[in-house]
Amino acid sequence: MGGKQIRIGALISGGGTNLQAIIDACVQDKIDARIVFVGTDNPDAKGLARAQKANIPTFVTNYSSIIKEYGKNPDSAILPEGFELADIMQKQFLISQDTDPGKLKAFLETRAIAERRLLDAMKPYPFDLLVLAGFMRNLTPYFIDEINDEPGRYRIMNIHPALLPAFPGTDGYGDTLRYGCKVGGCTVHFIDYGEDSGPIIGQKSFPISDTDTKESVISKGLHLEWQLYPESIQKFAEGRLSVVEKNYDLGNGKSFSRKIVVCS
Ligand code: GRF
Repeated sequence: MGGKQIRIGALISGGGTNLQAIIDACVQDKIDARIVFVGTDNPDAKGLARAQKANIPTFVTNYSSIIKEYGKNPDSAILPEGFELADIMQKQFLISQDTDPGKLKAFLETRAIAERRLLDAMKPYPFDLLVLAGFMRNLTPYFIDEINDEPGRYRIMNIHPALLPAFPGTDGYGDTLRYGCKVGGCTVHFIDYGEDSGPIIGQKSFPISDTDTKESVISKGLHLEWQLYPESIQKFAEGRLSVVEKNYDLGNGKSFSRKIVVCS
């Protein structure tokens, strides 16, 4: 690839096979990008070793210990400057607004404390795009707004193990198989304020037969993820992705609006 290289930050929680696919694509010059840091919420994330082997700086923001610490004395927790609970509560649609307000408050406050630490750890490494590569924590509007600081410019990508909008959540391949789907797939999308709900950049699919198991479905899906993520990053690097709002008149007085990705 011969274009200007973009700087990628990556967040992982586990094995990091997607991270490896992106590292390989960068090293083999298949995409116009380089990874400037790898962060994790999980001190035991196996993917950290992949980053270290590729000489990429790493850091850990230990979410579990932050959440535990908060639980000991929620009222004395020190919240990040500029964190407005009411504003974040109203923007987010990760969790139903009907949830017990105390639980919602604790969720958003613990995440904001952890997210502020993540942001501080990321600060030494300016980046153009943040990729979530098996990062198993939801991001709140507090974090998202710090990254997407220009209106309409989406800078956080995620890979999801299902053909969204079917099967959001943590076990996309398992949910697809258990439902009896005859096709499974993976999706790369931009992050918005909901869970796996942001504008879709790309998808790949594979057939599922009666003899497939969860393991074989995961294996088929991951092989496609390793192609789809670098391809999607390259489209971003080439400046080809834009998010536009589409409005559809459904007749009978109803309409449907959705922000979608257009690739030039
Ligand atoms: C992938 O299936 C990805 O779609 C999901 O988490 C898994 C991460 O795998 N978000 P790995 O850590 O990249 O191997």
